[in-house]
Amino acid sequence: MSNQFSPADLVVRGLTKSYNGHTAVLSGVNFAVAAGERVALIGANGAGKSTLLRCCMHLIQPDSGEVDLCGTRLEGLSAQKLRAVRSQVGFVFQKHNLVPRLSALTNVLHGAIPRTGFGRAWFQGLASEALRLEAMLCLERVGLTHVALQRADKLSGGQSQRIAIARALMQRPRLIVADEPAASLDPVAGDEVMSLFSQLVRAEGLTMIFTSHDLTHALNYADRIVALRGGVVVLDGRCSELDLKTLRAQYE
Ligand SMILES: Nc1ncnc2c1ncn2[C@@H]1O[C@H](COP(=O)(O)OP(=O)(O)OP(=O)(O)O)[C@@H](O)[C@H]1O
Ligand SMILES: [Mg+2]
Repeated sequence: MSNQFSPADLVVRGLTKSYNGHTAVLSGVNFAVAAGERVALIGANGAGKSTLLRCCMHLIQPDSGEVDLCGTRLEGLSAQKLRAVRSQVGFVFQKHNLVPRLSALTNVLHGAIPRTGFGRAWFQGLASEALRLEAMLCLERVGLTHVALQRADKLSGGQSQRIAIARALMQRPRLIVADEPAASLDPVAGDEVMSLFSQLVRAEGLTMIFTSHDLTHALNYADRIVALRGGVVVLDGRCSELDLKTLRAQYE
């Protein structure tokens, strides 16, 4: 665990998870992400990265272990309190999941739903001036104000993922969780999205954990790398002390 950043926004202790009582996917995972830190989670297909991210949010229930998310222990929380803690987390996935027939701006507005409810943020016309302005500022942060009124299904893959990032920012998150945010993009768009993402997170003082199969993305856009293998953390180190060869060895 790093001591340059503090305190931790995510602490995971002894996390275990198996699906339907079969072989354990996670068998005692321990790690922490400090406030303001960007962590890349790597590991082979099926290593359990997506499962771990979901367990960290209690989107799926771990079998055992503890998760402290944004300073709150998740075990034993009511559904309502769990939702309140999760509202501090912005999610970005491989597939951007934008609503295709709605404009870029309206899709960004949807990021406000956890705090405003459906009515005021679902349609642009119903949103308050303040919310619309905030959504435009989020679009500005990802360099896409010029496509605000375009339908989401008319945008390129890279633009769509930047809109998904703007939507996550609209949530005013403390922590960003991104599962393979660049995996569906070509190499140039993927680099652009990861670079933008990483800079925004740093500039806004947010915390980020992202998964990737691109080891240069992990090295370039994170502060620290955590590798999963065989259901446990097999490597946890600062990017400045790691190289591609060491990372590749985690897959052999
Ligand atoms: N809902 C589910 N039900 C049963 N098994 C599942 C389920 N989700 C994942 N698994 C299994 O759990 C293991 C870990 O899957 P997971 O998707 O977490 O890995 P991953 O590291 O994210 O892989 P990838 O790099 O391919 O995204 C795999 O063996 C997968 O088949
Ligand atoms: Mg996955």
